[in-house]
Amino acid sequence: MAKQSVGWNASQKRWLLMLLLIFSISTLIVFIVRPAFDSCDRQHYGVTTDTQIHLTTTIENLPNPLDFMKSKLVLLVSHELSLSGGPLLLMELAFLLRSVGAKVVWITNQKPTEEDQVIYSLEHKMLDRGVQVLPAKGQEAVDTALKADMVVLNTAVAGKWLDAVLKEDVSHVLPKVLWWIHEMRGHYFKVEYVKHLPIVAGAMIDSHTTAEYWKNRTRERLGIRMPQTYVVHLGNSKELMEVAEDSVAKRVLREHVRESLGVLNEDILFAIINSVSRGKGQDLFLRSFHESLQLIQDQKLQVPFLHAVIVGSDMNAQTKFEMELRKFVTEKGLQDRVHFVNKTLAVAPYLAAIDVLVQNSQARGECFGRITIEAMAFQLPVLGTAAGGTTEIVVNGSTGLLHPVGKEGVTPLAKNIVRLATHVERRLTMGKKGYERVKERFMERHMAHRIASVLKEVLQKAKSNPHS
Ligand SMILES: *[C@@H]1O[C@H](CO)[C@@H](O)[C@H](O)[C@H]1NC(C)=O
Ligand SMILES: *[C@@H]1O[C@H](CO)[C@@H](O)[C@H](O)[C@H]1NC(C)=O
Ligand SMILES: *[C@@H]1O[C@H](CO)[C@@H](O)[C@H](O)[C@H]1NC(C)=O
Repeated sequence: MAKQSVGWNASQKRWLLMLLLIFSISTLIVFIVRPAFDSCDRQHYGVTTDTQIHLTTTIENLPNPLDFMKSKLVLLVSHELSLSGGPLLLMELAFLLRSVGAKVVWITNQKPTEEDQVIYSLEHKMLDRGVQVLPAKGQEAVDTALKADMVVLNTAVAGKWLDAVLKEDVSHVLPKVLWWIHEMRGHYFKVEYVKHLPIVAGAMIDSHTTAEYWKNRTRERLGIRMPQTYVVHLGNSKELMEVAEDSVAKRVLREHVRESLGVLNEDILFAIINSVSRGKGQDLFLRSFHESLQLIQDQKLQVPFLHAVIVGSDMNAQTKFEMELRKFVTEKGLQDRVHFVNKTLAVAPYLAAIDVLVQNSQARGECFGRITIEAMAFQLPVLGTAAGGTTEIVVNGSTGLLHPVGKEGVTPLAKNIVRLATHVERRLTMGKKGYERVKERFMERHMAHRIASVLKEVLQKAKSNPHS
């Protein structure tokens, strides 16, 4: 060990220690800020407007694309403040804007009345980076909204804040509102949340699939029209890329996690990293996994020992569903192959430890699915459902393999598991292709560039409006 350490520089050692610390104590420290959303996740890159202008140039070391936001006043309105995808994404935007010298004010619309440790630490993280935090209601909130160059509403539900707080001033603020939407589930389509949507300056949505869904649903269900809509895919944070590209760190993390799971170095690990819930499809994944073992046995294939890892266990929350999963594991005698890991924000150690990411989100799939681009950064192939944002990230046959959602997907996924278990070369090649795709379009700088072009248009619209 001492010998290995010689080649490390001080900063490598420092962050690696931090990572291990986070990993071992699993606290709520947001070091690698990464969301753990529900249906619509974390994301960007690829701003495409209604008119389908694809901006696919590679941006290298150019001036920060957000520089024009310097000294602009931006009000960010978050529906809530928690360690879930939506708020963490908005915080990332807050820090991007602060880094170019914008004045950033943050409002959390819904806060619990009792003291909350997570909110406290997230607010302090923001204050440390020069973000001003205001109460959701009151004259100061109204004045800031009126003065701001731009207001970003985060999630559809944040629409509740507009009338409740701005009251008769609402019409002065709407022309400078950019509405960032990450949801793709029916119960968000309520007029009370989104009635102002048609007259805001723009909507920013995480994937084309989700944007289409919103366009259709608002028209069919609510009889309203979407404003100018921009699709902005997410990008990987610098911190994540730093770990993903450090082979020494990855090796250490891999050994550490594998040891903690009792898994040998040559074993193959297939993992879902998502909160345990029916929508994320852990039940169907386990069925596929079981079926793949049977296929291997029936065909007498020579493969390493396979494991399934489910990162995102929470016995306090989804107990019924998780009990079902655990019962399945016991019934099928898979205890030595299936591993449940508690929900965590520090996904890097697991990405370093596994061999294949399974993205098995059901129904309309992920809104984007940030874990998918994170896994690809770690050179992992992805076995994903052909739904939602996954279809915009994973290139079927090249960076991973897609299977249908629902029960029809169980056997195809089982076969894909066998395919990647038996073809080492193919698995590694897919991982490399995935990594190249991330470098080409799913980096933080791509996301910043995409967001910048949206903000520029929204600013122009706001300026040309007589009210603001
Ligand atoms: C639009 O919505 C209708 C019903 O709400 C549905 O039948 C149709 O398939 C949807 N179209 C798209 C492209 O999603
Ligand atoms: C996982 O979470 C459960 C409760 O939800 C807890 O009892 C258990 O100790 C946790 N395991 C680890 C390894 O932290
Ligand atoms: C993915 O590609 C495979 C062949 O490589 C094909 O059989 C399968 O139908 C494709 N799936 C989707 C969802 O396009």
